[in-house]
Amino acid sequence: MTAAFDLTIRNGTLSTASETFCADIGVSDGRISALAERLPPGKTDIDATGRWVLPGGVDSHTHIEQRSSSGVMCADDFASGTTSAAFGGTTTIMSFAAQHRGDSLTDVVADYHARAAAKAVVDYAFHLIISDPRPEVLDVELPALIDGGIRSFKVYMTYDKLKLDDGQLLEVMAVAQRERAMVMVHAENHEVIQWIARRLLDRGHRAPRFHAVAHAPVAEGEATHRVIALSTLLDQPLLIVHVSDPVAIGHIRAAQTLGVRVHGETCPQYLFLTADDIDKPGMDGAMWCCSPPPRDAAAQEAVWRGLQNGTLQLFSSDHAPYRFDASGKLPLGGDTTFKEMANGVPGIELRLPLLFSEGVMAGRITVNEFVALTATNHARMYGLHPRKGTLAVGSDADIVLWDPTRRTTVDWSMLHDNVGYTPYAGRELRGWPATVIRRGEVIVDGGRLNAAPGSGRYLRCDVPQPLRIERPAPPERRLFS
Ligand code: URP
Ligand code: ZN
Ligand code: ZN
Repeated sequence: MTAAFDLTIRNGTLSTASETFCADIGVSDGRISALAERLPPGKTDIDATGRWVLPGGVDSHTHIEQRSSSGVMCADDFASGTTSAAFGGTTTIMSFAAQHRGDSLTDVVADYHARAAAKAVVDYAFHLIISDPRPEVLDVELPALIDGGIRSFKVYMTYDKLKLDDGQLLEVMAVAQRERAMVMVHAENHEVIQWIARRLLDRGHRAPRFHAVAHAPVAEGEATHRVIALSTLLDQPLLIVHVSDPVAIGHIRAAQTLGVRVHGETCPQYLFLTADDIDKPGMDGAMWCCSPPPRDAAAQEAVWRGLQNGTLQLFSSDHAPYRFDASGKLPLGGDTTFKEMANGVPGIELRLPLLFSEGVMAGRITVNEFVALTATNHARMYGLHPRKGTLAVGSDADIVLWDPTRRTTVDWSMLHDNVGYTPYAGRELRGWPATVIRRGEVIVDGGRLNAAPGSGRYLRCDVPQPLRIERPAPPERRLFS
């Protein structure tokens, strides 16, 4: 007898962003072809009794094989980065094709495509980082790349070699508006950070912990408020990435209440770390440094509230992997000041286990909210839904079987990145992604990877479909947009 499905997953409890139900899943040709009780056998049959069956994670903020603006290369390439993602229950990543000033965007994207195609083990899409919005980039390269399926670009309000001024931000937003793309913003006020940093260094304060002092909350709050204000000129949807500060969250919420189409993303470091983690002897604190920096317990609570009340709709890793040596965090060894340290923390593998444990198992969010925050909202935000981010007939069979009973004490040796440490070492987590299925193939099970480098597929993004926040456009906008 021929099997009805390539794969049948039976007896599981399934959760999507909106509901939880018991059903079997039938998979044919890499897609979910049936969701019903008592399905016939598949060529492969998995008994999911006792497992929670959730969509594979979508991590829409990762830095893989990326050179920073100060010339430092990430520790993870597309092989180690996507392997680490897979072991953590993430079956789709979005990473950045980063333009440095003077670069052709088209060449940058071709380079990232070549790197990813040979190595990725999970499916992937790209965002752009635009640091040089000269006319031919905006008018020629960008529309062509958007046509090719890259419909989101990140812009920076800080970092000497990445920062755009307000006029440039508006120029980028205008292209996004015309081409129906998403603008992601790193919102920190550059002048404030530089002013504090200069004064700290003049007074001899060089250690990693001063990074958190220089990247003051007011820098994030002011920039968030300003870029939201700019976006209202064009009514262009925005995503404020890696939000850490209660005042910034308040600005996003207030704008949403007025109907401004602004969305918020946060990351594990803002729920599970604080500035005290950076305050370590010697240079060790560099391992906890990212921008914006982890803040304090009150900020952590505000971030949890933002996730619970829908102000923050995405939970991404912002995996920015740098080794704790001269190739990464410490370009000048022991003489590196907080200004020269590579910014960023790893998190691609622990993003889901951390939120599952401290969010779902601890009762702070529901499992449906977990699915929305870690998969469905990402797929919607970047035009990958319903192919990715849900369990539905016709969707790619990207499925994770969670073991809610497993207890794990985090240690870097159990992870699969190339970083050499984890900022979350020593934490006890409840629940773990035991079996990971990508387009119907079991790629992680029993702690082993079963996916060849290059078997991850490139995903073209469609028009973003973020949660809609509607507001009528004033008629004057027609004159300049
Ligand atoms: O510190 C961080 N977040 N580094 C990664 C780059 C970025 O700004 O997202
Ligand atoms: Zn950033
Ligand atoms: Zn980032």
